[in-house]
Amino acid sequence: MTRSETETETRTNSPRIVRTVSDLRTIVEGWKADGHSVGLVPTMGALHHGHLSLVHLLARHVDHVVVSIFVNPAQFGPGEDLARYPRQEAKDVAALANSAADLVFAPDVEEVYPHGFSSSVHITGLTEDLEGASRPGHFDGMATVVMKLLLQSQCDTAIFGEKDYQQLAVIRRMAEDFNLPVKIVAAPIVREDDGLAASSRNAYLDQAQRQVAVGLNRILADLVSRAEAGENLASLEQKGRKALLAAGFDSVDYVCFRDATTLAPIRNLRQPARLLAVARLGTIRLLDNMAVAATVTDR
Ligand code: PAF
Repeated sequence: MTRSETETETRTNSPRIVRTVSDLRTIVEGWKADGHSVGLVPTMGALHHGHLSLVHLLARHVDHVVVSIFVNPAQFGPGEDLARYPRQEAKDVAALANSAADLVFAPDVEEVYPHGFSSSVHITGLTEDLEGASRPGHFDGMATVVMKLLLQSQCDTAIFGEKDYQQLAVIRRMAEDFNLPVKIVAAPIVREDDGLAASSRNAYLDQAQRQVAVGLNRILADLVSRAEAGENLASLEQKGRKALLAAGFDSVDYVCFRDATTLAPIRNLRQPARLLAVARLGTIRLLDNMAVAATVTDR
């Protein structure tokens, strides 16, 4: 821990905004020349208290925090919400004013993908089902931009929320496979008072949908305790799907128990696991997941 909690909480200056890789690097190189460590919170903006908790957590690990704000077109498929994804930079920067963020990196699309850009990062295996099956190409676009942001910012540490659990697993794999000199920190899911996982896309929910949405967390919590009590995982997945539809969700993409690290399918709780689910309300996809303890021991 390099920055005390008190110091983190009392900063009141607005973070500076830079829009080019060259300006970002000049500032970061200055910090590094002074022997300071640098952390990155990659975001697509529309910041909520979940993002602010990432900033706060990261500030305990590093001397300077950079927040990137970039709605990455490469990770949206045709027919997804790229055009209507909330863009509110002034509000986001205001939200960071009393946080531990020192710098905002808010490049435009041409800065990240200049004319002639031709590369892509593809992680096999981990990206093929769950979100990968529902959103073809999503993880290539996500991994490509995260690789770029890590290299552009030359950060020592980067933080990602467990809310996008598969994304976190893919980024960890990528960092290991490419020997990236970056420590990846995972942050716990931040929830609203009623249990709904905080997400920029919650802003799309109308009042009636918002009431249905809270059922996701409740149903997953019930499935986790039944799994840990020894119920069959495959049958719980089926029951979870039915419970979500009965609670008012329009459709369910998946409810799956998986190995917590590899995300491979599992049949029992011999190893730490994760319950992952996506349910839809109209066109809105709500993601959630929960840790499941290993309860089966070989005697
Ligand atoms: O989780 C997100 O907001 C995005 O996928 C990320 C990591 C900022 C990459 O665009």
